[in-house]
Amino acid sequence: MTSVTEVAPDLFRLCTWIPEADLQFCQFLVRDDEPLLYHTGMKGLFPLVRDAVAQVLDPKTVRWIGFSHFEDDECGSLREWQELAPQATPVCSFVGKVVSVDGYAALRPARAMEDGEVLLTGKHRFRLLRTPHLPHCWEASLLFEETQRTLFCSDLVHQGGEHEAVTSADVTGRVAKTLREYEAGPFASYVPWTAKTRPMLERLVALEPRTLAIMHGSTVTGDGARTLRDVTSVMEEILGPR
Ligand SMILES: [Fe+2]
Ligand SMILES: [Fe+2]
Repeated sequence: MTSVTEVAPDLFRLCTWIPEADLQFCQFLVRDDEPLLYHTGMKGLFPLVRDAVAQVLDPKTVRWIGFSHFEDDECGSLREWQELAPQATPVCSFVGKVVSVDGYAALRPARAMEDGEVLLTGKHRFRLLRTPHLPHCWEASLLFEETQRTLFCSDLVHQGGEHEAVTSADVTGRVAKTLREYEAGPFASYVPWTAKTRPMLERLVALEPRTLAIMHGSTVTGDGARTLRDVTSVMEEILGPR
């Protein structure tokens, strides 16, 4: 089952718990003149995500499909969404568009955005932030919705396990536990730590987000800068050079 929670006005978290992976997979739907879905979820999740979207608005009206990087849980059902919704257009970094998305996944070409460029969907303003290799992959980017100060975090602040839809509690312990477990197994090197990683994270801190829309785990509300600062410290400790 996929749960649907309005975590902020017109921001809906669609969440599917997959016990075999010990992970929640969340997509975010922003209701606006031009609805935007951030992450499609894996190809196999398409019927569930489509039906969850239908609880909020007509899935055929989805206009924009945003995602961070080219992976199944980020954009695996892009084609299915474009078959269903005639106007649906992927929105991603330039590298994402030319290296993977237009060639492999999209029925119609993506809108590539430069770092700092803004997409208007009606009431909302989505600014694209290029974040190469953060959380991972060359083409990685994130979106920051400026009117509500929502940062679409993709795999950042990843919390393994099953958690509440939304929290304002400190989730740093969950993030640290997950990173340590990943480092000890086949998912090691989940997030590469380079000389560019901390400055990119500090740029996100400076946005002072009010809502962190996280793919795996609870959505975090409140002092997003503090959460991101604490998570940066944890990441550096676990993933950084030693
Ligand atoms: Fe990822
Ligand atoms: Fe992910």
